[in-house]
Amino acid sequence: TGERAIDIRSLLRETGLITLDSGFMNTGSCQSQITYLDGEQGILRYRGYDIADLAARCQFIEVAYLLLNGELPNAEELLQFRNDMTRYALLHEDMIHFFDHFPPNASPMSILSTMVGTLHDFYPEMDLDEDPYGGITTTTARLLSKIRTIAAFSYKKNMGQPLVYPRADLSYCANFLHMIFDRPNIPYEIDPVMVSALNKLLILHADHEQNCSTSTVRLVGSSGVRLYPSISAGISALWGPLHGGANAAVMRMLEKIEADGRNYDKYLEMAKDPEGSFRLSGFGHRVYKTYDPRAAIIKQACHDVLGSLKIADPLLEVALELEARVSGDDYFRERNLYPNVDFYSGIIYRAIGIPTNMFTVMFALGRLPGWIAHWQEMNLDKDSSRIGRPRQVYTGIVSRPFTELEER
Ligand code: ACO
Repeated sequence: TGERAIDIRSLLRETGLITLDSGFMNTGSCQSQITYLDGEQGILRYRGYDIADLAARCQFIEVAYLLLNGELPNAEELLQFRNDMTRYALLHEDMIHFFDHFPPNASPMSILSTMVGTLHDFYPEMDLDEDPYGGITTTTARLLSKIRTIAAFSYKKNMGQPLVYPRADLSYCANFLHMIFDRPNIPYEIDPVMVSALNKLLILHADHEQNCSTSTVRLVGSSGVRLYPSISAGISALWGPLHGGANAAVMRMLEKIEADGRNYDKYLEMAKDPEGSFRLSGFGHRVYKTYDPRAAIIKQACHDVLGSLKIADPLLEVALELEARVSGDDYFRERNLYPNVDFYSGIIYRAIGIPTNMFTVMFALGRLPGWIAHWQEMNLDKDSSRIGRPRQVYTGIVSRPFTELEER
């Protein structure tokens, strides 16, 4: 019924009917005041603010504050939040030993999900109303700050390099770049172009209403699980190539197309084959039936960032040409398949020097404020916090007599 949401619970309870909606194509699981998304018009707003304004004019932590609090911070609130990001950046020394015991080349995503779950054991999780300022509790501030350190350490572990500790004088994004790129005897010069590009990407990933990972955070949290393990589950949900893992899949696909002599037709035909399983990564979206507004901003940012850094990346050419071929093809047009947030983001990460296996970790860093905001909203709303428990339509054998072992 389009935009109209109908509460049919009592009807279903009375009649015993079940709505079967695999993939939750048209099932609303909650009411929310965090993010407005119009997939027909390509509009995305956090708490009413257009994503383009926020990406152009805010720092990532301002947007995190907005998502958690409902309002942008004033200067004093922002300073307090920034101080908290500095205060909580270090990890308990015992946690640091964990990094030594992952196998060599462990995936940064599995490290991230494990270590975020482990925070629950190292830092007591407080109740929602424990000493909050503007919706920020010690629990949420700790997580927002420590996830950045964990993400950076997972990179160092993967690279086999010594860990680099956070600095108190750097902004959220600059500190992250310092922790991943600084090396003993090879100090890293923080480049404002890269800081600003990272800031923009994190803002554009900060929330996207009831996507797979956010719904996972809500569903896991609905059983009464605390914040840190709920977020750990969200990180795992994000990992898949149909969701946040698509940014890494895009890069591998573009590299393959390039290595294949830019044979675009071959990849388009593979993607269109109804018998095949290949999809063009970074195209299509469940909700957008038009160009993803985040992709439009990131595409422009690709040109700006690569231009400022004087980088000529052949993969940007491949991506632009692939998009042009897709937009001229009836198959993709009829199905409303446009670039999504993951299509161009990897080219910027690559320009910054972040390797492909960290791309989905970067997505998780950006998405964290949204996950927390949804977990908090769910816990404060009695109706939404009812335990999530979908029904099913059973299609197996309903009843049969038991067969003893010797007769089977
Ligand atoms: N390449 C080729 N065909 C596609 C693609 C694609 N990327 N995406 C969808 N289609 C086709 C499907 O084959 C289907 O065709 P059919 O009607 O002939 O069977 C039709 O478009 C509809 O696709 P669905 O799978 O039903 O759409 P759904 O909403 O379930 O899936 C999804 C959305 C998962 C994003 C899908 O478009 C996809 O797999 N894209 C590639 C992976 C990707 O980029 N994921 C990131 C999404 S953004 C995010 O999560 C952060």
